[in-house]
Formats: sequence, C-alpha cells, structure tokens
Amino acid sequence: MKTIFSGVQPTGVVTLGNYIGAFMQFPALQDEGKAIYCIVDQHAITVPQDPKELRSNIRTLAATYLATGIDPNKAILFIQSEVPAHAQAGWMLQCVASIGELERMTQFKDKSDGKESVSAGLLTYPPLMAADILLYNTNIVPVGDDQKQHIELTRDLAERFNKRYGKVFVIPEIQLPKAGARIKSLQEPTKKMSKSDPNTKATIRFLDTPKQIEKKIKSAVTDSEGIVAFDEKNKPGVSNLLTIESAVTGIAIDTLVKKYEGLGYGAFKEGVATSLIEHLTPVQERFNELIDSSELDKILDEGAAKANEIASATVKRMENAMGLGRKSR
Ligand code: TYM
Repeated sequence: MKTIFSGVQPTGVVTLGNYIGAFMQFPALQDEGKAIYCIVDQHAITVPQDPKELRSNIRTLAATYLATGIDPNKAILFIQSEVPAHAQAGWMLQCVASIGELERMTQFKDKSDGKESVSAGLLTYPPLMAADILLYNTNIVPVGDDQKQHIELTRDLAERFNKRYGKVFVIPEIQLPKAGARIKSLQEPTKKMSKSDPNTKATIRFLDTPKQIEKKIKSAVTDSEGIVAFDEKNKPGVSNLLTIESAVTGIAIDTLVKKYEGLGYGAFKEGVATSLIEHLTPVQERFNELIDSSELDKILDEGAAKANEIASATVKRMENAMGLGRKSR
C-alpha cells in the first residue's frame, strides 16, 4: 500500500491556487493508500507571524482540509508542532544538507530578496520539509508545481542519508495535478497566484463570497483579441481562466474552448465565475459547519497520536543509523 503525504502552511486564507494545486488532489488519494495530511505550523514561523492569528489560521486550515473532503476515518490529519519528531528529524537532515544547496532554493531567494534580515529558519526550511515527508516512508507527495525543487531536494537528502548511514528512507515521488499545477495571478497572469500578493484583485480566496469571485474574475487581465483559446505563452490570462474552469468542472480545456466559440470575454468570464461559484459553495458550507465544532479537536488529537507513532519510530531509526544516543533504544 502506498503512503501519501502533503502539507499546507497555515498562513492567511487558502487561495484558489492552493485549492486547485493541492486540496483537490487530496481526497481521491485517501482511497488509494495511507494518506497523511499536515498543517505545517513550524514552517509558517520562518517568517514573522502574529501568535493569535497563527492559532486561528491553524484551525481554519484544519476545517478547510475536512471541508474539501478529507475523511478522518481514512486519512490522518494533524498539526506539525504536535509531533516532536518533525523538529528532531529536521535537525538531523539540516546536518546532511549543505548551505550552498539551500541558498539555491528559488523560494528562499524570492522570500529573502531585498530583505535586510531574514530568519535562519527560512534558509533551513527545506530539510524540515524533507523530514515531514521522509518520516512517514512516503511514496507520493501531491503538491503544486512551486514545490518541485523542494521535493527534488528531499529526494537528494534521502539518497545522501541512505548512502552515508544505511537505508533508512523511502525515496518519494512528486505528484502534480492534471490541471492547475500552477494557477496564475488574475492581474499578472505570468506570475503564480500567491497568498502574499498585495493586490487583492489578483488572488481568489477559498472563502470569497460569490460576489467577490464574480468581481475578481470579471476584472481578470486577458488580452485584446476577444477569442477564447488556450495558449499559455501568448494568451496567459485567458489560458489561466480556462485552466481554472477545467480544474473545478473536470471538463477538458478543448471542450471548454468549443463552448465559448464565437462568444466574447464577457460571456467567457461569466461562465468561469459561475462554474467556480457552483463548485466552491457546497465546500464553503461544509467549512462553516466544521469551524466551531468540537469534532475538529478530537480529529486533530487522534491524528497527532497516530502520526506520532509512525514518526517517532523513524526518528529512532535515524538516530541509530547516525550513532546518536545509546545503542539499546
Ligand atoms: P504552501 O502552503 O505554500 O502551499 C500549499 C500547496 O498549494 C500549492 N500551491 C499552488 N498550486 C497551484 N497554483 C498555485 N498558484 C499555488 N500556490 C500554492 C503548493 O504547491 C502546495 O502544494 N512547503 C510547502 C508546505 C509543506 C509541504 C511539506 C508540502 C511543508 N512540508 C511536505 C508537501 C509535503 C508550502 O509552503 O506550501
């Protein structure tokens, strides 16, 4: 049976990029193997966070996972900081990683660019992410395209560790979604849609109302041709909207292009907004039922206990392989 692992940071509200790139992949996988999903709060503190907001974001993210279809009877859902093995394994993997390879990570370069001072954790974030994955003997990591480089590094660190200390880790594979591995900004469609974009019109959020969604899609940047066609290079805005509609409806892009043949961008955008609202409304309703329920705490407690059992066993194997502590443990 395959093991699936993925994580999402509890920073701000989940975007349509997170939703399509990651969350939409998760529910199907819990029927294909042992699925483990994590709220990676220790990753979130690599940049400054307001403690109260972080707590609230953790809960929001837990309810989001469940609303999007994670079934706690099938999958493990837990908070990273409630399983100490992540920090322990993260440290050991930091000692296997080199500063040079961490400095080459594009996310580190982007997030540190122009900043006078960044935390050491921002640099050492990828070995912690590798720990998240490797602790569970993971075979498949469903993520969006922006995590490719981090998964490559995870594989490198696992192979290096196995070579140096004996075979402890399974080498994981990345799994990208069929449509929407990189959802773009609605205002600058060559850039990825991002939580941290200061332009609020650029990003659709998971909890946006139908009115907000409609407004944002209507003001999405396209081009002056007025022809709905998929061409990421020359028509990035239109292609992004087609990708979004295809991802949330499951309809092939070619079929959508035919549907909009001869219609202008007004009708096209209306169609995309309607499909998106129809898809998101029931998920948002489930979210609202879950957010204040005591069930949520019970699920997270049980998830942490199950995760802890698997992860602490891997930490022991890592420590034994590296020669830490005493042999008889
Ligand atoms: P995070 O929290 O930034 O994003 C969560 C997931 O959303 C995907 N994503 C996107 N997909 C498509 N289009 C976009 N515009 C878009 N923006 C974000 C991301 O690829 C990701 O799958 N380092 C990770 C969290 C993490 C993790 C892990 C993931 C920590 N440990 C172990 C997998 C396994 C991150 O910052 O994701």
